[in-house]
Amino acid sequence: MADLPIIIPDVHFDEVESDLRTVFASGQLTSGPFGTEFERAVAEFVGVGEAVATTSATTALHLALAALDVGSGDEVLLSDFTFPATANVVVQTGATPVFVDSSPNDFSMDPECLRSLVSGRTRVVMPVDPFGQPADHAAIGAIAAEAGASVIVDAACSLGGERDAIRCGAHGLMGCFSFHPRKVVTCGEGGMVMTADPDLAGRLRTLRNHGSVRAGGPGLSFVEPGFNYRLGEVPAVMALSQVRRLDEILTDRRRTASLYDERLTGTEGLTVPRPPDRTEWSYQSYVVVLDDYLDRDRVIRDMAEERIGTTIGTYACHQHPAYSRWGYVDGDLPNSARFAGQALTLPLVPGMTLEQVERVVETLRRVLRTG
Ligand SMILES: Cc1ncc(COP(=O)(O)O)c(C=O)c1O
Repeated sequence: MADLPIIIPDVHFDEVESDLRTVFASGQLTSGPFGTEFERAVAEFVGVGEAVATTSATTALHLALAALDVGSGDEVLLSDFTFPATANVVVQTGATPVFVDSSPNDFSMDPECLRSLVSGRTRVVMPVDPFGQPADHAAIGAIAAEAGASVIVDAACSLGGERDAIRCGAHGLMGCFSFHPRKVVTCGEGGMVMTADPDLAGRLRTLRNHGSVRAGGPGLSFVEPGFNYRLGEVPAVMALSQVRRLDEILTDRRRTASLYDERLTGTEGLTVPRPPDRTEWSYQSYVVVLDDYLDRDRVIRDMAEERIGTTIGTYACHQHPAYSRWGYVDGDLPNSARFAGQALTLPLVPGMTLEQVERVVETLRRVLRTG
């Protein structure tokens, strides 16, 4: 068991106790005032008008696609290098997922590859901000606009990131956050759709609540078949408590990341990705790329023997059986495949000490030298 895991959720019972007592006393456990306050706080932080809290990023992304009536006959062009939830929601709508490669030196969607895949059926472009590293949203947005497609950003990891003076979550028509325990803010399971469009936000809220609207009387009117993707009040209290100190959380993660950057840059056998100009990363994870001669999975095992948690970056979706019916073969998306094989996530825990960073770095250097 690792004594230094890849992440420790930054949650504190003392911080939520009083608000939890309020929720328990009120009996209002499903969506309520804490959820509304949570939405308002995230919208204010991101600088976008509307926020619709959901039960996860997966349901946020599904809701976003449903609000655009994406379905059979449509193509959704999405990042291949991602957690497969991004692809699954596309498949659930009946649309066709078209996987876009990463840039050679950047985990996120390659705009040139995107351009080459646009077709008359392209309805939505879905770039991911991997590990809190914002994609090149200016380039991607321009290509999508030319194609007449909408952009839904999978911003699951990027709350707190920024590119070209726009905070993550505010790029594209909609941006979707996750509040899973491996994210910068967590409430166990939770998500949120951000948008500047109030009409779209109205549709998202209707679809989130079974497709219902208030009818004037005691009941509801069901105007279309919807979902129950509402976030409950207990998770809303948890997430809100962290959003209130989000600047502090981000400063701490960036401090640790810069300690890693200083110590790891130039290390033989690995590359340390760095933010491009006009970009801030949220550092949901700190991820390096090992050279091809190294066996990444062996490195993970050797680090575990030293009780240091490390893991893969994320997945190359096209390599997985769930998507085999679309006929991808080895070599189709080479950059994503290389990152899936060679990316390595290092521990980044709240208040990480210099000694902890140096222990990871020294151990990693030793492990890399042996093979
Ligand atoms: C890029 C990306 N998209 C979507 C998800 C799914 O998030 P959730 O667990 O909140 O549904 C994740 C979670 O790991 C993710 O990393």
